[in-house]
Amino acid sequence: MSTPGSAASASAPDFDARRFKAMERAGFNRIAARYAEGAHLRADLAAALLDAAALEPGQRVLDLASGPGLLAREAAQRVVPGGSVLATDIAEGMLAEGARRCGNQADAPCFAAADAERLCIADARMDRVLAGLALFIFPHPEQALAEMHRVLAPGGRVVLSVWGPRETVPLIHRAQDCIARLLPPPKVARPSVFRYGEPATLHATLAAAGFDDIDIRPCAFSCHFADADAYWQAFLDLAGGAAEALGRLPEATQRALQAAVVDDLAAHCCDDGRGGYLLPARTLIASARRPGN
Ligand SMILES: C[S@@+](CC[C@H](N)C(=O)[O-])C[C@H]1O[C@@H](n2cnc3c(N)ncnc32)[C@H](O)[C@@H]1O
Repeated sequence: MSTPGSAASASAPDFDARRFKAMERAGFNRIAARYAEGAHLRADLAAALLDAAALEPGQRVLDLASGPGLLAREAAQRVVPGGSVLATDIAEGMLAEGARRCGNQADAPCFAAADAERLCIADARMDRVLAGLALFIFPHPEQALAEMHRVLAPGGRVVLSVWGPRETVPLIHRAQDCIARLLPPPKVARPSVFRYGEPATLHATLAAAGFDDIDIRPCAFSCHFADADAYWQAFLDLAGGAAEALGRLPEATQRALQAAVVDDLAAHCCDDGRGGYLLPARTLIASARRPGN
């Protein structure tokens, strides 16, 4: 996950897409089990995305950049009988975690490692592509969207979620603020996770990729944390590349960051009797069609 002041485009001359992907892959492998544990924090978002997908029995679904396949697992229940769900991700540890959690469950999704920018799936094979909190992670999102378009059957839909504008996502930006306060700026700028936060930007991006009938809706949710440590851990459990970069810092620096974030959370004290902190997040859910039938 990028830090403030690092909202550069992935086309910047010093941006190394391969290295960036390797860092994200290592980070998401590192946090796979904890990411799955923390998924309940974003349950409302997952439910809204699945509802927007309007899944029906018999459909073929790709859960792209699936992580541990939380969307895939629920989708698999909605497309029986006759449907199928494939969950793909660049981080094989995420997929292994997802497969482990499915156990011997009947109608479980299939899991397969794949880079979203180069899918090994035949043309027009899917009725739905789901992509939760992923588009902004890809170094070449237009390439990933072209792949989604290619594997969708005409009339099929992509349904995805992205973070809203930075100021509407304290859940992420408070930790980023803390990192920016204490650490020097990164040597190589990384694309911002908020880059599709404006509906007009997301709409234009989907239209440029050849999609039509584009519907974009906001989805807001809040996460409660008992204390600042719990917030910091939840941030690390969500942020693949950033978790990897922070995990390579000296332990003393990591502890200093964790201690300092309490100052960034001052505006979010929870006043409903629970104590701790309540961090809001705004997202967008987009549904768009591959033209045809
Ligand atoms: C924030 S997680 C979202 C996981 C899941 N879609 C969800 O809604 O919970 C982002 C996922 O994107 C994956 N990812 C990052 N870069 C990728 C790429 N180039 N191709 C495929 N997956 C990628 C990560 O490994 C991670 O599992």
